[in-house]
Amino acid sequence: MIMDDLETLGQRLLAEVGNAENLKALETTRVGALGKKGILTTRMKAIGAMDASLRRDAGAALNRLKSELAAAIEARAEDLRGAALDAQLRSERIDVTLPARRAPTGRVHPVSQVFDEIVAIFANMGFKVAEGPDIEDDFHNFTALNIPPEHPARQDHDTFYLRAPQGQARQLLRTHTSPVQVRTMKSQPPPVRIIAPGRTYRRDSDMTHTPMFHQVEGLVVDQTTHMGHLKGCLQDFVSAFFEVEVPVRFRPSYFPFTSPSAEMDIGCKRSRGSLTIGAGDDWLEILGCGMVHPNVLGHCGIDSERYQGFAFGVGIDRIAMLKYGIPDLRSFFDADLRWLRHYGFAALDVPTLHAGLAR
Ligand code: DAH
Repeated sequence: MIMDDLETLGQRLLAEVGNAENLKALETTRVGALGKKGILTTRMKAIGAMDASLRRDAGAALNRLKSELAAAIEARAEDLRGAALDAQLRSERIDVTLPARRAPTGRVHPVSQVFDEIVAIFANMGFKVAEGPDIEDDFHNFTALNIPPEHPARQDHDTFYLRAPQGQARQLLRTHTSPVQVRTMKSQPPPVRIIAPGRTYRRDSDMTHTPMFHQVEGLVVDQTTHMGHLKGCLQDFVSAFFEVEVPVRFRPSYFPFTSPSAEMDIGCKRSRGSLTIGAGDDWLEILGCGMVHPNVLGHCGIDSERYQGFAFGVGIDRIAMLKYGIPDLRSFFDADLRWLRHYGFAALDVPTLHAGLAR
């Protein structure tokens, strides 16, 4: 009778253990059976009052059940802990390939983008980036570049002059990036191979002119530099920049700081109001260049008998408009967010020649 009862109790407890849905329910079952006031503990205590003839068997049976139950509880606990860990791992799983930060919403301005593209292209040809101040003096902006006082070329530059403190020479906003040529040659011995992108200023404003605009200057000075190097370098530059084979043409021109001087045209096609850069039956002027004038080398303390060099100057805004089909120069400086979202570039896509200049 007692044995039967124990067997039923055992089955009930084992079933309860098997059905425990979580560790908490399992613990309740354990305390209810094996705890200080648990049913099996209580029964164990009651054995002492039993008839000696029954005590041994009942004690042994009860002990068996206790160990069986304890083992079942441990096994079930093990299962439940495993399942809980699985569930936690599933819910906390992270995809390490997802971006750690949200993609930035800001866009890179086309002028900054083109700056970076130009730097990437010329860096690949071994050029370094040089810089100079936006506020210049007469010597660096004009005189050293072979534009003496009263030279008619000064008028073409529509210069912004700054009010000079009493007794001091007046300063100006640089009208081109060419003064960086002078600063570079004065501060380092040849060979020189630099580009100087930056802001420039002239009193001018219409569809294609803004009072502030951007240029990039290039300068190479060495003992054997010649016009062929200049042409090859610029030809490579425009093809890399426009990312197509671009035919080029050099026309004789005049700049006080170069001799001979030239303007370079790139091939294009115009049809029904649209312009395509590349092979075509038309030409578009994009830059001025030439061999550095011996007087300029002289002003910078370089022996023009030993050294010669080439230089060029490109309008950055202009080639940005051509490459990215932007119709109005003034829109560059409107700070209109809708415009920037449309024409801007993804902030983390830094232009390189191997990964592509623009995406
Ligand atoms: N400085 C010229 C300008 O602003 C551009 C230029 C032309 C630069 C010929 C040069 C050059 O270095 O050789 O219009």
